[in-house]
Amino acid sequence: SAAEKGGYDYFMLKEIAEQPKAVADTLLGRVDASGSLTLDEVRIPPNVLREADKVVIVACGTAFHAGLIAKYAIEHWTRIPCEVELASEFRYRDPILDPQTLVIAISQSGETMDTLMALRHAREQGSRVLAICNTNGSTIPRESDAVLYTHAGPEVAVASTKAFLTQLVACYLVALYLGQVRGTKWGDEIRDVVRELSKIAGEVERVLETMGPVRELARGLAHKNTVLFLGRHVGYPVALEGALKLKELAYMHAEGFAAGELKHGPIALIEEDLPVVVVVPSPRGRSVLHDKIVSNIQEIRARGARTIVIAEEGDEAVVPYADHLVRVPATPTLLQPLVATVPLQVFACELATARGNEVDQPRNLAKSVTVE
Ligand code: AGP
Repeated sequence: SAAEKGGYDYFMLKEIAEQPKAVADTLLGRVDASGSLTLDEVRIPPNVLREADKVVIVACGTAFHAGLIAKYAIEHWTRIPCEVELASEFRYRDPILDPQTLVIAISQSGETMDTLMALRHAREQGSRVLAICNTNGSTIPRESDAVLYTHAGPEVAVASTKAFLTQLVACYLVALYLGQVRGTKWGDEIRDVVRELSKIAGEVERVLETMGPVRELARGLAHKNTVLFLGRHVGYPVALEGALKLKELAYMHAEGFAAGELKHGPIALIEEDLPVVVVVPSPRGRSVLHDKIVSNIQEIRARGARTIVIAEEGDEAVVPYADHLVRVPATPTLLQPLVATVPLQVFACELATARGNEVDQPRNLAKSVTVE
């Protein structure tokens, strides 16, 4: 009913709008006044976390994209090698697992069969499993050694939005917590990032306030057949997520690429007026990457692409090459997906509407996939 949708036309729109609160709720009570993390609920003994020599993340779909981003954070802040694998592929390749492996299973519903079978396989090999889940008391957390709940609230729309942002927050918390428990040379950076995380709800709110032009752009592209998405570093999984949203909602051919891979094949796809969304990393910090992506934008534009550039406020280098420029607030590099994903959600939702598709219930899809 309209009341359930809180005045929005679709649950998806309501859930996109709820993201600032969802993100804040996932942080709530998990950071103390001194900026230290208190994840007492992660009932895996600290010595087990200290002795872990590998992290393996298993998940599907959007949750898998959260896992891809988590890898960058976990490896950077903890120096523990981290693998991310599609849950549906995991157990069939006889993965190397032992009691020193910490497995993280990410799932909004907690009922995804592929993810459940992957975690069962991991536990059979003696690995500890930490679930990151949005649904209290669901099967995946019940069968895990510990759970960190994302407090996104119920997500009704099939296309995952607020669950994704809160999965990211939970992943950052786990990465930072592992760093804290194990001791890391990044102590100061961890404190800074915790501080930045507490500001992120406000930043997401600011992004939401500026989405008018993104909706207008989407309506103008409703007749297109293909949209490509490019990113680097954590922007690469953001590109994959943008493409997935467009497939499931707009039923368009959409593909995400690592921008550095363009020259290894995908650049052949670029033709006159092809919309290409580019997620640009912050010009601060990893500026080498930034420069490289700016030249990628130049290359595709020279071949006729219509460039839709998502870039940090104040990044002037991209301006000459952007046919459409979407600004997001400056954040530490690793946190950028929390703001950069939001315009892509709005873009896909608006395209679905413009194409006359069912936003909350896309064809052929179920909210939780309980078969393998
Ligand atoms: C996301 O928009 C999708 N509907 C889908 O990829 C989903 O993320 C995936 O099926 C995993 O679901 P889960 O998080 O409930 O395990």
